[in-house]
Amino acid sequence: MNIDDVKNIAVLGAGNMGHQISTLCAIKGYKTTCMDVSDEILKKAEAFVDKYLPGRVEKERLTKEQAKKARENLTFTSSLEEAVKDADYVIEAVLEVVDLKRKIFADLDKMAPSHAILATNSSYIVSSRIADATSRPEKVVNLHFFNPALVMKLVEVVQGPHTSDETAKISMALCDKLEKIGVHLKKEVEGFLLNRIFRAISREAMWILEMGVASVEDIDKACVFGAGHPMGPFRLNDLTGLDLSYTMGMEAFRETGDRSLLPSPRLVEHCIKGEYGEKTGKGWYDYSKQS
Ligand SMILES: NC(=O)c1ccc[n+]([C@@H]2O[C@H](COP(=O)([O-])OP(=O)(O)OC[C@H]3O[C@@H](n4cnc5c(N)ncnc54)[C@H](O)[C@@H]3O)[C@@H](O)[C@H]2O)c1
Repeated sequence: MNIDDVKNIAVLGAGNMGHQISTLCAIKGYKTTCMDVSDEILKKAEAFVDKYLPGRVEKERLTKEQAKKARENLTFTSSLEEAVKDADYVIEAVLEVVDLKRKIFADLDKMAPSHAILATNSSYIVSSRIADATSRPEKVVNLHFFNPALVMKLVEVVQGPHTSDETAKISMALCDKLEKIGVHLKKEVEGFLLNRIFRAISREAMWILEMGVASVEDIDKACVFGAGHPMGPFRLNDLTGLDLSYTMGMEAFRETGDRSLLPSPRLVEHCIKGEYGEKTGKGWYDYSKQS
């Protein structure tokens, strides 16, 4: 199999990541099926596309013809079987719960064509924790997009000990086709590449806050105006979700036993109150007050 054999893509999960990844694949010419168990989320994803594509035409980033073609390429469904039956490449972007992902990969294995590559967009679950739920571990890989997937160029391709060189090569080639910058991690490592680097920054930011040294706003300002980051760690955390940081922190602690990786007390407080960031209207910042 090579990259030219990839024509149909299935994206599982139409949430934060899934709706953007599927829109991207459709724009880049792939017949794409976006699947979610929630009809409400599917409707939201469809409404997003129907607003996003005309917006790209208005901004002259796409021609009318390209936008029309992209829309025709994209279908939405709540049936897993329907989504994957003709897929050459599957990108799973459902909730970050390992047992759920294992169940989905086991089902996928039965429903997707035997040549299909099965990738997970997980933020930290290495694919070796999922691959043995399938009969084709050599075709299982991490394909890690960043949020927002339509904007961020980087994609990490993490090759597990079970992942074949062919699967890694096709996944890197898919990044090129999607006009992303793929980086190849030759080994599985907790946190992958960029999140390990980000985590060091974010952990320090959290503790500076906990120690009462500076406010959320000032820590973000320091990173933006001193280090040239496009946004500070707290603003970024509101975008990616405090709930995800919480689970990632707990998981990193479980994996390494390193207490310094545990979520900070204030992060836990926000999570207990259901303040997960932009998606809930409040996180480190209050979005309900914004015009
Ligand atoms: N949020 C980020 O910044 C980010 C960045 C990179 C990677 N990721 C990873 O992407 C994945 C998705 O994250 P998200 O932020 O989009 O989550 P999300 O909560 O926004 O979306 C997850 C979606 O999965 C759906 N879902 C649940 N069970 C399902 C099933 N059985 N079949 C199909 N869909 C199902 C839910 O209805 C929901 O719409 C996670 O693995 C996460 O670690 C997230």
